[in-house]
This record gives sequence, C-alpha cells and structure tokens, in this order.
Amino acid sequence: MATKKTVKKETVKAAAKKAVPATKTATVAKAAASKKPAKKAPAKAVKIFHDKDADLSFLKDKTIAIMGFGAQGRAQALCLRDSGCNVIIGVRKGKSFKAAKEAGFAVFSVAEAAKRADIIHILLPDESHKSVYADEIAKYVTPGKTLCCSHGFAYVFKNIVPPAGVDVIMVAPKGPGTEVRRVFEEGFGCPGLVAVWQDASGKALATALAIAKGEGLTRGGVLECTMQQETYEDLFGEQNVLCGGIVDLMKYGFETLIEAGYPGEMAYFECIHEAKLIVDIIYNKGIAAMNGVISNTAEFGEYFNGPKIITPDVKKRMKESLKRIESGEFAKIWMREASKGAPVLAKKREQLAQHPAEIVGAKIRKLFERK
Ligand SMILES: NC(=O)c1ccc[n+]([C@@H]2O[C@H](COP(=O)([O-])OP(=O)(O)OC[C@H]3O[C@@H](n4cnc5c(N)ncnc54)[C@H](OP(=O)(O)O)[C@@H]3O)[C@@H](O)[C@H]2O)c1
Repeated sequence: MATKKTVKKETVKAAAKKAVPATKTATVAKAAASKKPAKKAPAKAVKIFHDKDADLSFLKDKTIAIMGFGAQGRAQALCLRDSGCNVIIGVRKGKSFKAAKEAGFAVFSVAEAAKRADIIHILLPDESHKSVYADEIAKYVTPGKTLCCSHGFAYVFKNIVPPAGVDVIMVAPKGPGTEVRRVFEEGFGCPGLVAVWQDASGKALATALAIAKGEGLTRGGVLECTMQQETYEDLFGEQNVLCGGIVDLMKYGFETLIEAGYPGEMAYFECIHEAKLIVDIIYNKGIAAMNGVISNTAEFGEYFNGPKIITPDVKKRMKESLKRIESGEFAKIWMREASKGAPVLAKKREQLAQHPAEIVGAKIRKLFERK
C-alpha cells in the first residue's frame, strides 16, 4: 500500500462524502428524525484505578494458588511472585507442571493447591472450569477464602456457583500472557479490568486491586466493571471483530485475489501481512492518525468501498450475535462441544491448516525471520 500524500485531504474528504449513496444519507436522516427512545441507557462512565488506589498489603500472609500454568497462569504467577506475593501453582501432571517447577514454583495438584490457598485464582481453559471446580476445588472453598478468575465465563453462565461466605473477584489483564509479562518486565503494566461477583468480606474489591497491582496492571490503570459486562463484551469482541471478523475478512480478501489469478504471495502481503502495520498505528494513535499516514488514495478507497463491503446488515448480524451471547446460547453450544472433546474445533483447525493463506503465509513469514 502506498503511503505518500499528494492530494489535499479536504478535497478527498469532500469527494468521499459525495460518494456516500443517497439512500444511506436518507436512512441516517430518518433515524435521526425518529424520536424512538434508546433501548438501553448509556453505560455509566467507568472508574479507573491506579497504583495509588491499590494496596499490596491485602495480600500479605496470603497464599495465592494459581490454577494452570498456561498463557495467563505463567505470566500472572511470575509477576505476582516478583511483587513479593506468596504464589503456588496447581496444575495436572504434564508440560505445564514441569514448566512451573522449572520456573521455581512449589507445584501441586489442583486439589492440594486449593486446600493450601487463601486465594484460588483459576486460570484453566474456560471450558474446564466446571468439572475441575466440582471435582477438585469446591470442597476447599471455605468461608474466608477468595475465588479469582481472569474471565467471568464460569460464573456468568453458572458453571461455577460459589458458596456464600467467600469473595469472588475477577482480575483480567487486557492482553495475552506474553504481553502481560513483557510489559511488567519493562517496568510498566498491561491495562486490565477488575470486577466483584460476591463480596462476603467487604474487602473483595481491595483484594482484586491488590492482585492487579501485583501484576503491574494498575501502573497503566484498571477499569472497574461487572463480570457480565466483561464476559459479554469479551465474547462479542472476539467473535465479531478480533477473531471471527478480521480472520474471515482476511481470508475472503486473499481468496478473491488468488481466484482472480493474482499471485498468492502478493495477496498474502495485501490482505494479511499489512494488517499488522495498520493496526499498530490505530493501537498507538487512533483511526484518524492511521488515515493521516496512509495515502490519500488509500483513505479515499476506505470511505468509498468500506461501506460497500461492511454493510449495515453486518451490524444487524452483530446484534444477533450479541443476543446469542447474552442469552447464554453461545455458552451452551460451546460447553456441549467441549464435553464431546471438541470435534468441531479439531476439524476447523485441520481445515485452516490446509488453507492456501496459511501455506503461503508460512513461506512469506520465513522471509522476515532474523537469522
Ligand atoms: N489467553 C488470553 O489472552 C487471556 C486473556 C485474558 C483472560 N484469559 C483467561 O485466562 C484463563 C486461562 O486461559 P489461558 O489462555 O491462560 O489458558 P491456557 O494457555 O490454555 O492454559 C491452561 C492451563 O491449564 C492447564 N489445564 C488444562 N486443563 C486442566 C485440567 N483439567 N486440570 C489441571 N490443569 C489443566 C493447562 O495445563 P496443560 O499444559 O497440562 O494442558 C495449562 O497450564 C481463561 O479463563 C481465559 O479466558 C485469557
């Protein structure tokens, strides 16, 4: 994609405005004129907490059992230990068990770690929370203890129903585990969310903020939300934009070009590889700044063609997706699939590995490996 600006931006923007179909303008005007009340009141401004709002002493003399030593478990355990917390790991025997031992942690079965812990932080795959909790954790969830998670799925969809007398909190870094750890080691922190599901002690939020501080999250800032908000928004984002959404858009773009006879290598560059460059600018400076860096031609094309591809019916289907999430329909389908050993997931992974974009992509990415 070219990035040089040659035409005055105002001219391009005026032309782009003209390119908006009249029917669309009429629809927008009609909607604005309609006096229909909004379905839901706008959400209240969220509270943002920083280091000064969090006190690590809430974790003093407490044992935190991190259940699972995968992407999040490893990162959060290492950060909390570096912050002086007493962290143990609960995980089944295997790869993670070995990795946690090698990282110098005291490692136990999930049941043993739950027994020893004051704070039980479950960082297992969401689909396994229900059975592992019932089989290994529940009997050690006694009054005065705290249950913690990084995604509210298990509580919101009632896979875990905690007893009274315990605190239930969420501390959710907004980033993959590798990023949580990398930013922490740089002396800063990944942003995050905190929520309280059950507050038996009256100190549930203070505990959540202390954990967030121990993981470096309050250095940037953590937002307070409800577990429902986090769970529904997280599922919505990954299904409609971040994973489902972007991936399908990339695949359609790539397929359209190769089916028209263009070289796959070039199609990969245009429709997949360059997405990172664009997203990086949006991540750092926003959409308008990204538009300021790409060429006028690219920007005009965005306004001219984007709405022809992503049409209002996409939004309609996104609303249907949100309903499936909020009603629990998606969670039911996913839990049923997981209980059968996730055959659909396995098949989809197999199919994706055969997709030409993956085959060409492996070749292209090799070009960028620094030897
Ligand atoms: N990944 C993210 O970016 C992200 C971001 C925010 C929140 N979260 C949340 O964090 C939680 C953990 O996700 P993750 O991505 O870190 O998971 P993950 O990388 O898949 O790691 C799961 C860990 O749980 C262990 N495990 C799996 N089944 C187990 C069982 N039956 N008994 C004992 N241990 C078991 C695995 O051990 P083995 O090596 O033996 O399989 C592994 O150590 C989830 O609730 C997720 O929604 C994830």
